[in-house]
Amino acid sequence: MYDEGYQRWRASARHLALFGEGLPDSIQPFSFVPMQGMEFVSSLLALSPGSTLVDFGCGRGGPGMWLAAQAGAGVIGVDSSKVAVADAASRQDLFPGLASARFVVADVADTGLPSGCADAVVSIDVLQLVPDPAAMVREITRVLKPGGRVVVTTWENTGVEVERFPSDIPGLFTEMSDVEVYGRPEWLPRQYAIYDAAVEADDGTDPAIADLAKEAKMIEPLRENSRRLVVTASRR
Ligand SMILES: C[S@@+](CC[C@H](N)C(=O)[O-])C[C@H]1O[C@@H](n2cnc3c(N)ncnc32)[C@H](O)[C@@H]1O
Repeated sequence: MYDEGYQRWRASARHLALFGEGLPDSIQPFSFVPMQGMEFVSSLLALSPGSTLVDFGCGRGGPGMWLAAQAGAGVIGVDSSKVAVADAASRQDLFPGLASARFVVADVADTGLPSGCADAVVSIDVLQLVPDPAAMVREITRVLKPGGRVVVTTWENTGVEVERFPSDIPGLFTEMSDVEVYGRPEWLPRQYAIYDAAVEADDGTDPAIADLAKEAKMIEPLRENSRRLVVTASRR
């Protein structure tokens, strides 16, 4: 479903520049976590050298590879887009500190990975997109080792009328322990600046910018009806 999008987005220098602003060039995310957010996620994961991080909805792999490389850890990325996964595999040399990297085309609710293969799990801006967030969290729990930690960035619905995002994100993690929720409203101005820049730049010549401008208009009513957050929890 995301393959056609990835073909357009990775071909647009303007789109890459908007998402990559303020981050190391290698990351090239299609997500809205700013640099201080990446550092915060890294501190919550507290990866050890040689440990294995599984990145749920890895996209083109940059955020997960950057996080693993900071600690000399390895990464296994999972995404349903074969275009994104092929890009991720071809980009691993950009992250010299990585212990290892491999990428799998699969659904985040059914990764096919062995149970307990992950020392830690990260998922950057994916949970709000999946049809069954509870199934994704069950799969995260299954692949984590006992005591292993997950860090998820997402948005939660707070309004009564707009239901694009899940409600009660912490409630998805009740089978896990040490659940912590961090509101991150300070990440939102950068996200909205990216949207505003896309709307202004959209002159019909760049399909990737047109996609982003369309998303910006769809998200507009959610600005008052959602909250930006990070959730972390441990497998019992
Ligand atoms: C907003 S992008 C974030 C990508 C990456 N985490 C990043 O930060 O650049 C969301 C990603 O989730 C993936 N995705 C959405 N639904 C999925 C599902 N059910 N199973 C696997 N991947 C999914 C998309 O293909 C896309 O790569």
